[in-house]
Amino acid sequence: MNKEIVVSGIRSTGFLHLGNYFGAIRNYVRMQEEYPCYFFVADYHSLTTHPDPALLKPNVYRVLAENIACGLDPEKVALYVQSDVPEIPELYLMLNMLAYKGELEKTASFKDKARTQPDNVNAGLLTYPTLMAADILIHKASYVPVGKDQEQHLEMARNFAQRFNHRYGETFPEPHPFNFGSDLVKIPSLDGTGKMSKSENENATLYLADTDEVIRKKVMKAKTDQGPTEVNSVMPDYIENIFLLMRLVSEADVVKKFEKDFSECTIRYGDLKKQLAEDMVRFISPIREKAESIRHDHVYLHKIMKAGQEKARESASKVLSEARRRMGINFYC
Ligand code: TYM
Repeated sequence: MNKEIVVSGIRSTGFLHLGNYFGAIRNYVRMQEEYPCYFFVADYHSLTTHPDPALLKPNVYRVLAENIACGLDPEKVALYVQSDVPEIPELYLMLNMLAYKGELEKTASFKDKARTQPDNVNAGLLTYPTLMAADILIHKASYVPVGKDQEQHLEMARNFAQRFNHRYGETFPEPHPFNFGSDLVKIPSLDGTGKMSKSENENATLYLADTDEVIRKKVMKAKTDQGPTEVNSVMPDYIENIFLLMRLVSEADVVKKFEKDFSECTIRYGDLKKQLAEDMVRFISPIREKAESIRHDHVYLHKIMKAGQEKARESASKVLSEARRRMGINFYC
Protein backbone atom coordinates (compact mmCIF):
# COMPACT_ATOMS: atom_id res chain seq x y z
CA MET A 1 0.00 0.00 0.00
CA ASN A 2 1.34 3.44 -0.96
CA LYS A 3 1.45 6.25 1.61
CA GLU A 4 -0.02 9.02 -0.53
CA ILE A 5 -3.62 9.82 0.26
CA VAL A 6 -6.34 9.88 -2.38
CA VAL A 7 -9.50 12.00 -2.28
CA SER A 8 -12.24 12.54 -4.83
CA GLY A 9 -15.92 13.42 -4.92
CA ILE A 10 -18.98 13.49 -7.14
CA ARG A 11 -21.83 15.99 -6.90
CA SER A 12 -25.28 14.63 -6.16
CA THR A 13 -26.97 16.48 -8.98
CA GLY A 14 -28.37 13.63 -11.04
CA PHE A 15 -27.62 10.40 -12.81
CA LEU A 16 -24.01 9.31 -13.19
CA HIS A 17 -22.81 8.83 -16.75
CA LEU A 18 -19.96 7.38 -18.76
CA GLY A 19 -17.93 10.56 -18.23
CA ASN A 20 -18.09 10.11 -14.46
CA TYR A 21 -17.16 6.46 -14.88
CA PHE A 22 -14.18 6.83 -17.23
CA GLY A 23 -13.07 10.23 -15.88
CA ALA A 24 -13.21 9.29 -12.22
CA ILE A 25 -14.80 6.09 -10.87
CA ARG A 26 -12.72 3.68 -12.95
CA ASN A 27 -9.63 5.12 -11.29
CA TYR A 28 -11.23 5.05 -7.83
CA VAL A 29 -11.69 1.32 -8.27
CA ARG A 30 -8.07 0.82 -9.30
CA MET A 31 -6.68 3.12 -6.64
CA GLN A 32 -8.58 1.49 -3.77
CA GLU A 33 -6.19 -1.46 -4.03
CA GLU A 34 -3.08 0.70 -3.86
CA TYR A 35 -3.72 3.81 -1.74
CA PRO A 36 -5.61 4.96 1.34
CA CYS A 37 -8.74 6.43 -0.29
CA TYR A 38 -11.49 8.86 0.70
CA PHE A 39 -14.39 9.10 -1.75
CA PHE A 40 -17.50 11.12 -1.10
CA VAL A 41 -20.78 12.46 -2.43
CA ALA A 42 -20.47 16.24 -2.69
CA ASP A 43 -23.96 17.20 -1.51
CA TYR A 44 -22.91 20.68 -0.29
CA HIS A 45 -21.53 21.42 -3.74
CA SER A 46 -24.86 20.52 -5.28
CA LEU A 47 -26.64 23.21 -3.19
CA THR A 48 -25.28 26.00 -5.41
CA THR A 49 -28.12 25.31 -7.85
CA HIS A 50 -30.83 25.06 -5.14
CA PRO A 51 -32.01 21.48 -5.77
CA ASP A 52 -35.44 20.41 -4.53
CA PRO A 53 -34.82 19.05 -0.99
CA ALA A 54 -37.08 16.08 -1.78
CA LEU A 55 -34.74 15.07 -4.60
CA LEU A 56 -31.46 15.61 -2.81
CA LYS A 57 -31.57 12.43 -0.69
CA PRO A 58 -32.50 10.04 -3.51
CA ASN A 59 -29.70 11.60 -5.55
CA VAL A 60 -27.18 10.99 -2.76
CA TYR A 61 -28.35 7.37 -2.42
CA ARG A 62 -28.10 6.96 -6.18
CA VAL A 63 -24.51 8.25 -6.35
CA LEU A 64 -23.49 5.94 -3.49
CA ALA A 65 -25.22 2.95 -5.07
CA GLU A 66 -23.74 3.65 -8.49
CA ASN A 67 -20.24 3.98 -7.05
CA ILE A 68 -20.58 0.62 -5.33
CA ALA A 69 -22.10 -0.96 -8.45
CA CYS A 70 -19.03 0.20 -10.39
CA GLY A 71 -16.79 -1.76 -8.05
CA LEU A 72 -15.98 0.60 -5.19
CA ASP A 73 -15.59 -1.46 -2.01
CA PRO A 74 -16.76 0.41 1.12
CA GLU A 75 -14.64 -1.96 3.22
CA LYS A 76 -11.48 -0.82 1.45
CA VAL A 77 -12.18 2.93 1.22
CA ALA A 78 -13.91 5.61 3.25
CA LEU A 79 -17.12 6.21 1.29
CA TYR A 80 -19.04 9.10 2.86
CA VAL A 81 -21.31 12.06 2.35
CA GLN A 82 -19.63 15.50 2.45
CA SER A 83 -22.24 17.04 4.79
CA ASP A 84 -21.57 14.25 7.33
CA VAL A 85 -18.09 15.66 7.94
CA PRO A 86 -18.35 19.08 9.67
CA GLU A 87 -14.57 19.53 9.59
CA ILE A 88 -14.85 20.21 5.84
CA PRO A 89 -16.94 23.41 6.09
CA GLU A 90 -14.71 24.60 8.92
CA LEU A 91 -11.58 24.28 6.80
CA TYR A 92 -13.53 25.84 3.91
CA LEU A 93 -14.12 28.92 6.08
CA MET A 94 -10.40 29.16 6.87
CA LEU A 95 -9.36 28.72 3.23
CA ASN A 96 -11.81 31.41 2.15
CA MET A 97 -9.59 33.90 4.01
CA LEU A 98 -6.79 32.94 1.61
CA ALA A 99 -8.85 32.98 -1.58
CA TYR A 100 -9.18 36.23 -3.51
CA LYS A 101 -12.30 37.54 -5.21
CA GLY A 102 -10.45 38.21 -8.45
CA GLU A 103 -9.13 34.68 -8.88
CA LEU A 104 -12.49 33.14 -7.89
CA GLU A 105 -14.29 35.30 -10.44
CA LYS A 106 -11.87 34.20 -13.14
CA THR A 107 -12.56 30.47 -12.63
CA ALA A 108 -14.00 28.97 -15.82
CA SER A 109 -16.75 27.04 -14.01
CA PHE A 110 -17.86 30.22 -12.20
CA LYS A 111 -17.95 32.27 -15.39
CA ASP A 112 -19.91 29.48 -17.04
CA LYS A 113 -22.51 29.26 -14.28
CA ALA A 114 -22.76 33.06 -13.98
CA ARG A 115 -23.64 33.09 -17.67
CA THR A 116 -26.12 30.20 -17.62
CA GLN A 117 -27.85 31.05 -14.32
CA PRO A 118 -27.62 34.88 -14.08
CA ASP A 119 -30.39 35.00 -11.45
CA ASN A 120 -28.49 32.82 -9.02
CA VAL A 121 -24.86 33.94 -8.88
CA ASN A 122 -24.49 33.15 -5.18
CA ALA A 123 -21.41 33.25 -2.93
CA GLY A 124 -21.34 29.43 -2.80
CA LEU A 125 -20.85 29.38 -6.53
CA LEU A 126 -18.02 31.89 -6.28
CA THR A 127 -16.27 29.94 -3.52
CA TYR A 128 -16.93 26.51 -5.05
CA PRO A 129 -13.15 25.99 -5.57
CA THR A 130 -12.36 26.72 -1.90
CA LEU A 131 -14.90 24.13 -0.73
CA MET A 132 -13.35 21.70 -3.16
CA ALA A 133 -9.88 22.51 -1.82
CA ALA A 134 -11.18 21.91 1.72
CA ASP A 135 -12.53 18.48 0.63
CA ILE A 136 -9.07 17.56 -0.57
CA LEU A 137 -6.81 19.21 2.01
CA ILE A 138 -8.86 17.99 4.98
CA HIS A 139 -7.25 14.57 4.48
CA LYS A 140 -3.88 15.94 3.26
CA ALA A 141 -4.45 14.26 -0.08
CA SER A 142 -1.71 14.09 -2.72
CA TYR A 143 -3.71 12.50 -5.56
CA VAL A 144 -7.15 13.39 -6.86
CA PRO A 145 -8.59 11.16 -9.59
CA VAL A 146 -10.79 13.46 -11.70
CA GLY A 147 -11.73 14.19 -15.29
CA LYS A 148 -10.24 16.96 -17.41
CA ASP A 149 -12.96 19.47 -16.43
CA GLN A 150 -11.63 19.60 -12.85
CA GLU A 151 -8.05 20.56 -13.78
CA GLN A 152 -8.43 24.25 -12.96
CA HIS A 153 -10.07 23.50 -9.60
CA LEU A 154 -7.09 21.32 -8.72
CA GLU A 155 -4.69 24.07 -9.68
CA MET A 156 -6.56 26.40 -7.32
CA ALA A 157 -6.44 23.80 -4.53
CA ARG A 158 -2.66 23.70 -4.97
CA ASN A 159 -2.50 27.49 -4.79
CA PHE A 160 -4.54 27.58 -1.57
CA ALA A 161 -2.37 24.83 -0.04
CA GLN A 162 0.81 26.72 -0.96
CA ARG A 163 -0.58 29.96 0.42
CA PHE A 164 -1.54 28.31 3.70
CA ASN A 165 1.88 26.67 3.99
CA HIS A 166 3.66 29.91 3.19
CA ARG A 167 1.75 31.91 5.79
CA TYR A 168 1.33 29.35 8.58
CA GLY A 169 4.06 26.77 8.02
CA GLU A 170 4.28 23.54 6.04
CA THR A 171 0.96 21.76 6.62
CA PHE A 172 -0.56 20.50 3.37
CA PRO A 173 0.95 18.47 0.53
CA GLU A 174 0.16 19.82 -2.94
CA PRO A 175 -2.70 17.81 -4.43
CA HIS A 176 -2.39 16.70 -8.05
CA PRO A 177 -4.99 15.38 -10.46
CA PHE A 178 -4.35 11.71 -11.16
CA ASN A 179 -4.88 9.35 -14.07
CA PHE A 180 -2.09 6.79 -13.71
CA GLY A 181 0.38 8.97 -15.58
CA SER A 182 -1.91 9.61 -18.57
CA ASP A 183 -3.66 12.83 -19.55
CA LEU A 184 -6.94 13.50 -17.78
CA VAL A 185 -9.95 12.16 -19.61
CA LYS A 186 -12.80 14.05 -21.27
CA ILE A 187 -15.64 11.84 -22.48
CA PRO A 188 -17.39 13.61 -25.35
CA SER A 189 -21.13 13.70 -25.87
CA LEU A 190 -22.65 11.65 -28.69
CA ASP A 191 -23.71 14.69 -30.70
CA GLY A 192 -20.15 15.91 -31.10
CA THR A 193 -20.84 19.26 -29.39
CA GLY A 194 -19.37 18.95 -25.91
CA LYS A 195 -18.91 16.53 -23.06
CA MET A 196 -21.24 14.06 -21.40
CA SER A 197 -22.90 15.76 -18.46
CA LYS A 198 -25.33 15.07 -15.60
CA SER A 199 -27.59 17.98 -16.39
CA GLU A 200 -27.03 19.08 -20.00
CA ASN A 201 -27.00 17.21 -23.27
CA GLU A 202 -29.19 14.43 -21.87
CA ASN A 203 -29.92 12.78 -25.21
CA ALA A 204 -26.24 12.71 -26.09
CA THR A 205 -25.07 11.41 -22.69
CA LEU A 206 -25.03 7.73 -21.76
CA TYR A 207 -26.13 7.30 -18.14
CA LEU A 208 -25.25 4.30 -16.02
CA ALA A 209 -29.01 3.97 -15.36
CA ASP A 210 -30.06 3.97 -19.03
CA THR A 211 -32.07 0.94 -20.18
CA ASP A 212 -30.71 -1.21 -23.01
CA GLU A 213 -33.27 0.28 -25.34
CA VAL A 214 -32.33 3.86 -24.47
CA ILE A 215 -28.61 3.09 -24.87
CA ARG A 216 -29.24 1.67 -28.35
CA LYS A 217 -31.39 4.63 -29.33
CA LYS A 218 -28.84 7.21 -28.15
CA VAL A 219 -25.90 5.49 -29.83
CA MET A 220 -27.76 5.04 -33.12
CA LYS A 221 -28.52 8.78 -33.12
CA ALA A 222 -24.84 9.75 -32.72
CA LYS A 223 -23.77 12.21 -35.37
CA THR A 224 -22.13 10.74 -38.50
CA ASP A 225 -21.93 11.71 -42.19
CA GLN A 226 -21.72 10.05 -45.63
CA GLY A 227 -18.41 8.45 -44.77
CA PRO A 228 -14.85 9.15 -45.96
CA THR A 229 -14.31 9.58 -49.69
CA GLU A 230 -10.52 9.46 -49.79
CA VAL A 231 -8.34 6.72 -48.35
CA ASN A 232 -6.51 7.54 -45.12
CA SER A 233 -8.44 10.76 -44.60
CA VAL A 234 -8.54 12.57 -41.26
CA MET A 235 -11.50 11.67 -39.04
CA PRO A 236 -13.93 14.46 -38.24
CA ASP A 237 -14.23 15.10 -34.47
CA TYR A 238 -17.64 13.46 -34.14
CA ILE A 239 -16.39 10.24 -35.76
CA GLU A 240 -13.22 10.31 -33.67
CA ASN A 241 -15.53 10.57 -30.61
CA ILE A 242 -17.38 7.40 -31.62
CA PHE A 243 -14.06 5.59 -31.91
CA LEU A 244 -12.98 7.01 -28.54
CA LEU A 245 -16.06 5.48 -26.91
CA MET A 246 -15.55 2.25 -28.78
CA ARG A 247 -11.96 1.93 -27.51
CA LEU A 248 -13.35 2.09 -23.96
CA VAL A 249 -15.90 -0.70 -24.23
CA SER A 250 -15.18 -2.83 -27.32
CA GLU A 251 -12.61 -5.54 -28.02
CA ALA A 252 -9.35 -4.24 -29.53
CA ASP A 253 -9.69 -6.28 -32.75
CA VAL A 254 -13.22 -4.96 -33.31
CA VAL A 255 -11.93 -1.39 -33.07
CA LYS A 256 -9.05 -2.22 -35.39
CA LYS A 257 -11.42 -3.64 -38.01
CA PHE A 258 -13.53 -0.48 -38.07
CA GLU A 259 -10.43 1.75 -38.13
CA LYS A 260 -9.20 -0.19 -41.15
CA ASP A 261 -12.61 0.13 -42.81
CA PHE A 262 -12.46 3.88 -42.22
CA SER A 263 -9.00 4.27 -43.77
CA GLU A 264 -10.09 2.18 -46.76
CA CYS A 265 -13.39 4.07 -47.16
CA THR A 266 -15.41 0.88 -46.74
CA ILE A 267 -16.82 1.76 -43.35
CA ARG A 268 -20.59 1.65 -42.80
CA TYR A 269 -21.43 3.95 -39.93
CA GLY A 270 -24.69 2.07 -39.27
CA ASP A 271 -22.67 -1.07 -38.51
CA LEU A 272 -20.16 0.88 -36.44
CA LYS A 273 -22.92 2.31 -34.27
CA LYS A 274 -24.73 -1.03 -33.97
CA GLN A 275 -21.53 -2.63 -32.70
CA LEU A 276 -20.90 0.23 -30.27
CA ALA A 277 -24.51 0.08 -29.03
CA GLU A 278 -24.24 -3.64 -28.24
CA ASP A 279 -20.88 -3.24 -26.52
CA MET A 280 -22.27 -0.33 -24.47
CA VAL A 281 -25.28 -2.40 -23.43
CA ARG A 282 -22.93 -5.17 -22.35
CA PHE A 283 -20.87 -2.67 -20.36
CA ILE A 284 -23.63 -0.61 -18.74
CA SER A 285 -26.39 -3.13 -17.98
CA PRO A 286 -24.65 -5.05 -15.14
CA ILE A 287 -23.80 -1.71 -13.44
CA ARG A 288 -27.39 -0.49 -13.82
CA GLU A 289 -28.83 -3.69 -12.44
CA LYS A 290 -26.49 -3.80 -9.47
CA ALA A 291 -27.09 -0.11 -8.63
CA GLU A 292 -30.83 -0.62 -8.86
CA SER A 293 -30.65 -3.45 -6.34
CA ILE A 294 -28.69 -1.29 -3.87
CA ARG A 295 -30.26 2.14 -4.33
CA HIS A 296 -33.40 1.53 -2.28
CA ASP A 297 -31.72 -0.40 0.50
CA HIS A 298 -31.36 2.53 2.86
CA VAL A 299 -30.46 0.36 5.84
CA TYR A 300 -27.43 -0.95 3.95
CA LEU A 301 -26.52 2.48 2.59
CA HIS A 302 -26.83 4.13 6.02
CA LYS A 303 -24.46 1.54 7.43
CA ILE A 304 -21.92 2.38 4.74
CA MET A 305 -22.39 6.13 5.17
CA LYS A 306 -21.89 5.88 8.95
CA ALA A 307 -18.76 3.75 8.59
CA GLY A 308 -17.44 6.16 5.95
CA GLN A 309 -18.24 9.15 8.14
CA GLU A 310 -16.32 7.63 11.01
CA LYS A 311 -13.21 6.96 8.91
CA ALA A 312 -13.38 10.39 7.29
CA ARG A 313 -13.86 12.29 10.57
CA GLU A 314 -11.02 10.44 12.22
CA SER A 315 -8.64 11.73 9.56
CA ALA A 316 -10.31 15.14 9.14
CA SER A 317 -10.37 16.04 12.83
CA LYS A 318 -6.61 15.55 13.11
CA VAL A 319 -5.87 17.75 10.12
CA LEU A 320 -8.33 20.41 11.23
CA SER A 321 -6.74 20.57 14.71
CA GLU A 322 -3.36 21.05 13.10
CA ALA A 323 -4.69 23.81 10.82
CA ARG A 324 -6.34 25.56 13.79
CA ARG A 325 -3.13 25.34 15.79
CA ARG A 326 -1.09 26.76 12.92
CA MET A 327 -3.53 29.64 12.54
CA GLY A 328 -3.54 30.38 16.25
CA ILE A 329 -7.18 29.52 16.89
CA ASN A 330 -6.55 26.75 19.43
CA PHE A 331 -7.24 28.15 22.87
CA TYR A 332 -7.61 25.25 25.24
CA CYS A 333 -4.54 23.12 24.69
P1 TYM B 1 -18.83 16.11 -11.01
O1 TYM B 1 -19.85 15.63 -10.04
O2 TYM B 1 -19.28 17.07 -12.07
O3 TYM B 1 -18.14 14.89 -11.75
C1 TYM B 1 -17.61 13.81 -11.02
C2 TYM B 1 -16.33 13.32 -11.68
O4 TYM B 1 -16.61 12.94 -13.04
C3 TYM B 1 -15.72 13.63 -13.92
N1 TYM B 1 -16.43 13.92 -15.18
C4 TYM B 1 -15.94 13.63 -16.40
N2 TYM B 1 -14.80 13.05 -16.77
C5 TYM B 1 -14.59 12.86 -18.09
N3 TYM B 1 -15.49 13.23 -19.05
C6 TYM B 1 -16.67 13.81 -18.72
N4 TYM B 1 -17.56 14.12 -19.66
C7 TYM B 1 -16.94 14.05 -17.33
N5 TYM B 1 -17.96 14.60 -16.64
C8 TYM B 1 -17.63 14.52 -15.34
C9 TYM B 1 -15.33 14.90 -13.19
O5 TYM B 1 -14.11 15.41 -13.69
C10 TYM B 1 -15.25 14.41 -11.76
O6 TYM B 1 -14.00 13.81 -11.51
N6 TYM B 1 -16.41 19.58 -8.37
C11 TYM B 1 -16.52 18.16 -8.61
C12 TYM B 1 -16.89 17.36 -7.37
C13 TYM B 1 -15.97 17.57 -6.23
C14 TYM B 1 -14.63 17.06 -6.13
C15 TYM B 1 -14.17 17.53 -4.87
C16 TYM B 1 -13.83 16.30 -6.96
C17 TYM B 1 -16.25 18.26 -5.11
N7 TYM B 1 -15.18 18.24 -4.27
C18 TYM B 1 -12.88 17.21 -4.40
C19 TYM B 1 -12.54 15.99 -6.50
C20 TYM B 1 -12.09 16.45 -5.24
C21 TYM B 1 -17.62 17.94 -9.62
O7 TYM B 1 -18.50 18.74 -9.78
O8 TYM B 1 -17.59 16.72 -10.24
